Amino acid sequence: ATSFADAAAEVLRANDRGQRTVAAPELYPHQWSWDAAFVAIGWATLSVPRAVEEMRHLLRGQWATGMIPHIVFTADAGYFPGPARWRTERAEHAPEVATSGICQPAIHSLALYSIGERARRNGGEDAAVFRSFLLDTFDDWVRWHRWLDSARSTHPSGLVEIHHPWESGMDNSPRWDAPCARITVGRMAPYEREDVRHVAAADERPEDADYDRYLWLVEQLVEVDYDDEAARRVVDFRVGDVFFTATHAISADLLATLGEDIGRPAEAAELRGMAARARGAVARTVDPQTGRARDFDMRAGTWIDADTIGGFAALVCGTDHEAYAALVAQLLGPQWCAHPALAHPVPPTVTPDSPTFVSRTYWRGPQWPVLVWLFTWALRHHGHDDAADAIGRAGRAQLGDLTFAEYYDSLDGQALGSRNQSWTAAVALAWAA
Ligand code: DGY
Repeated sequence: ATSFADAAAEVLRANDRGQRTVAAPELYPHQWSWDAAFVAIGWATLSVPRAVEEMRHLLRGQWATGMIPHIVFTADAGYFPGPARWRTERAEHAPEVATSGICQPAIHSLALYSIGERARRNGGEDAAVFRSFLLDTFDDWVRWHRWLDSARSTHPSGLVEIHHPWESGMDNSPRWDAPCARITVGRMAPYEREDVRHVAAADERPEDADYDRYLWLVEQLVEVDYDDEAARRVVDFRVGDVFFTATHAISADLLATLGEDIGRPAEAAELRGMAARARGAVARTVDPQTGRARDFDMRAGTWIDADTIGGFAALVCGTDHEAYAALVAQLLGPQWCAHPALAHPVPPTVTPDSPTFVSRTYWRGPQWPVLVWLFTWALRHHGHDDAADAIGRAGRAQLGDLTFAEYYDSLDGQALGSRNQSWTAAVALAWAA
């Protein structure tokens, strides 16, 4: 019998294309930004040099602005929207390689930190490979956070603003229902979706009306040649994303620690400043009624009320002791992990008590192992080992069918979306290590 870790390793190996790993064998045949970060964490349990390669390949896509794009394309095969729709060659700051023109949550330095820990434990060649990679690329990761801090954190809320639901990574989350409802889709070239060909049932994916808005927002960004300042003025979707902000905060902090290790105290201090600002912004979003964080609709000037996992953003970046402990209790409580209707006691993307909850539709209710893992990492990092252990045990048990699905129906436990999803296998490896 193959062990859990062996089966997960097999998935990564099968999805390995040399220096990059496809996010999924069919549905996502390119390198995705936050996928790559989690995937590298998984690779590090098998090979630190291979983990480092994954991160290095992602940096090929980095824009001169500092932005790390959400997709680095290798071939225009089987995915929509591909390079022809993104038209990033029009952008002054785009790199040589084809990429998308938007970004994804800044989980990267958390990955670096985690690879670094393993490299240090392994010692020898692994420690040397990691250190030399860090020396080589430290400035690139700093530039990514500087861009988030300057170009994307101009709003008085201090939140990282996103210009597309895809930038949140949680595409069709109820978090974006209100701002998306106000988008008026204009004229654009016809298109055909690819994603629905690769899943068992269309209701596991976003709707056609969602896709029209996604593509329309791409048109708006192309129209201004992806100029950051112009985008803030023209794009219909302009939202302060509290979860993204939390990833920026924790990653900036961890990158600062790595910077201190390699003798870069000035940059480390700068990163600490960014992290403190972002963490403060997350704390200021808290709804006094629920204790959870909220996103901010910058077009409407209103807080967004949605009962989603995004509300637990402060667990990722940290906040004061008391607020943190209360949030942990809430996450473990009867509306979330301990909800009696759940097949597995791990956080669902939306509480089953919400009217927007759908147990099998993408970011509207299923459980995503990658997020479950992120919370176990964060809980441990912030000193809540018991909660991390409990959720980690359940998260691992959920993967017992060895399908390594993209997400799972939170009520009946059925595997959904892609199978053999790289980041699911990666977090399985991280749990098993
Ligand atoms: C997709 O294609 O569904 C991705 O989430 C967008 O990046």
